[in-house]
Amino acid sequence: MNHQKYIRDNFSVCRDAFESIANRARPYYNPATMDNQDKIHDSTAWRAAELREMIQRHDHLYYVKARPEISDREYDLLATELAGLEKKHPALACKVSPTAAVGSDRQAGFETMVHPVPMLSIGNTYSADEVAEYDERTRRKLDLDAAAELEYVVELKIDGVAVTLMYVDDRLEYAATRGDGVRGDVITRNIRTIGKIPNILGGRKRPGRFEVRGEVFMNRPDFEEINRLRELEGEETYANPRNFTAGTLKQLDMEIVASRPLDILIYACGAVDAGLPETHAELLVELKRAGLPVSDRFQICHSVADIMRTVDHWEERRKKLPYDTDGLVIKVNDMSLYKSLGSTAKSPRWLVAYKFSAEQAQTRLENIEIQVGRTGAVTPVANLSPVILAGSRISRASLHNADEIRRKDIRMGDQVVIEKGGDIIPKVVRVLDSLRTGDEKIYQYPLLCPVCLSALVQPEGEAAHYCINRSCPAQVKEGVLHYASRKAMDIDGLGEKIVDQLVEGNLVRDISDLYNLKVEDIEPLDRMGEKSSRNLVDAIHATRSRSLSRFLYGLGIRHVGENAAKLLVLNFEDIHALEHAAQVDLEVIDGVGEVMALSIREFFTHEENMELIRRLRNAGLNLSRTDEEKSRRDKISRGSLFSGKTCVLTGRLEKMSRGEAEKLIESFGGKVTAAISLKTDLLIAGPGAGSKLRKAEELGIANVDEAAFLGMLIESGWKGL
Ligand code: IVH
Repeated sequence: MNHQKYIRDNFSVCRDAFESIANRARPYYNPATMDNQDKIHDSTAWRAAELREMIQRHDHLYYVKARPEISDREYDLLATELAGLEKKHPALACKVSPTAAVGSDRQAGFETMVHPVPMLSIGNTYSADEVAEYDERTRRKLDLDAAAELEYVVELKIDGVAVTLMYVDDRLEYAATRGDGVRGDVITRNIRTIGKIPNILGGRKRPGRFEVRGEVFMNRPDFEEINRLRELEGEETYANPRNFTAGTLKQLDMEIVASRPLDILIYACGAVDAGLPETHAELLVELKRAGLPVSDRFQICHSVADIMRTVDHWEERRKKLPYDTDGLVIKVNDMSLYKSLGSTAKSPRWLVAYKFSAEQAQTRLENIEIQVGRTGAVTPVANLSPVILAGSRISRASLHNADEIRRKDIRMGDQVVIEKGGDIIPKVVRVLDSLRTGDEKIYQYPLLCPVCLSALVQPEGEAAHYCINRSCPAQVKEGVLHYASRKAMDIDGLGEKIVDQLVEGNLVRDISDLYNLKVEDIEPLDRMGEKSSRNLVDAIHATRSRSLSRFLYGLGIRHVGENAAKLLVLNFEDIHALEHAAQVDLEVIDGVGEVMALSIREFFTHEENMELIRRLRNAGLNLSRTDEEKSRRDKISRGSLFSGKTCVLTGRLEKMSRGEAEKLIESFGGKVTAAISLKTDLLIAGPGAGSKLRKAEELGIANVDEAAFLGMLIESGWKGL
């Protein structure tokens, strides 16, 4: 029996671990053992890691934060580049790669459920050529030649939030978000606030499950009215209907949801027990008969030319629709073909999206300003003459970095074209140099940090400049705000205005100073009184017992987000253990990439960071797993690698004694027996193995050598020898 296959079929945790080990064990880590054709240039591996982390970050921004920073087009370019690298160098591909996953929008506070049919996403196309390629691919897969009849249904792609509604015996059972595609949040109460959703389906009877999928959104006039009222009240306005809808669905308070006019359109099915019509077009009719809201705006197309005519039809007209659309969805009409078309890890092959090009506008670039972030990275920002673009008033655009300004020859006073893809921060696409008057000024990129006047540096290979003065007030302020933020130490009352004053008044030079603040220090600050100062001091002191993961996230180590911090805490019991973790101890953790591992190592090599941690420890902060974190870890390890499995050891072990191996197997939930029987799940066979190995092979029991065994353990969180 093939042991890889056995492991794949029998160990869920192990499956990823094993494949990942198999990948890692390839020459990528050990160039000396590589065949020439397999050799991966270091920078390629580095680029893949970088792409993976960028994609994960943008997934998080898109799905969780609902605040994307790049357009779908740019996102697709990153994903395509990574997929290309992984295809060319299979050793680079790993299960944790975002090319093998759909992003996640899961949120704490909601019950979760597993989708009976995963909620995948859709591949994108951007041009007639790409649509033609999709058509060719589909025909090839179906063994159809170019002349054979193949119908598509083309629908509008609504720019909202995907949901699934499960009806059982025609009654709404639950509604859920897409989540990570496999597991979503149950949002039934929130969905029930949408009047158009029937509680009981009409038309014919549908015994069993009838799961429908659709998009929740908000019509623009409703959204604009809400913003208008907020503006009148002097409140901050919402960025766009999609983010507002996403935020609304994540509300735990149903009253708030009910007060916001959400809308929904249904466009597909999930798990269905009662049989379905033959075509997607008929399905849309059936859904409508059932009383569900379905769009009439769909078109049956017979060719790529037909599809492109529909694209032309909607390209301009869509702006007059009451809701936002970001493209069209092209679906094979004959549903009996879906099975043979299958799907990739991310998306079914029976459909593809066509994305409209981003909206553009022209305006004057007044001047350029520099912003300094928490990590010291410096970002140039363009101040623009305000202009309406895709429904919002735009007065600033990101210029990314110095190279970008140089490359696009952007000058102050230029007429520029700006673009906004989806809901991202707008950017300057190009300069209209024919409109130059000669009065435009070339921007001199500053040599000094505008805040602390220390020299800016540009690390080799990086596009950004950095202010490397760690005491730079801009960085300190951002660092303190991050530390105090809700998902980090959650310090109520420590907002921007107070932090500005604390840092400018030299009361706070780094986060450890927060713990020395006294009521008398805070009271004289603007808008603070005795009571609010006391509350703030109390709130700061209350953070001493916060969880280790909150603390780690709050430290602001580059690339260590909230989830990564939790992962680290599962693997390291306290800050001391993390400080002493080697690069490889970090890299073997699923979800910790090379870039993050490097960044963590780098953080702990700075004496000033170690000094900061010492000061925080002296201030009485908890720097170890809390009881809650310990029990979470226990629970996870109970459902771990060898849970309920029986292993046998044979032959020589070189890295550890038999006893140690047994203890390890037990600590990962398994048991060790002496003899091979039908109950044995896995044989660990070292050199010199004889009859037990033969017997295991006869019985079809999987076997691994010591190295693979160690690999499995390490991948499951074991910290190594
Ligand atoms: S079909 C396998 N039809 O676009 C996915 N999706 O970018 C089946 N969307 O996740 C979905 N309009 O949330 C479908 N007419 C439409 C759609 C649509 C918007 C969303 C959906 C999907 C996302 C992909």
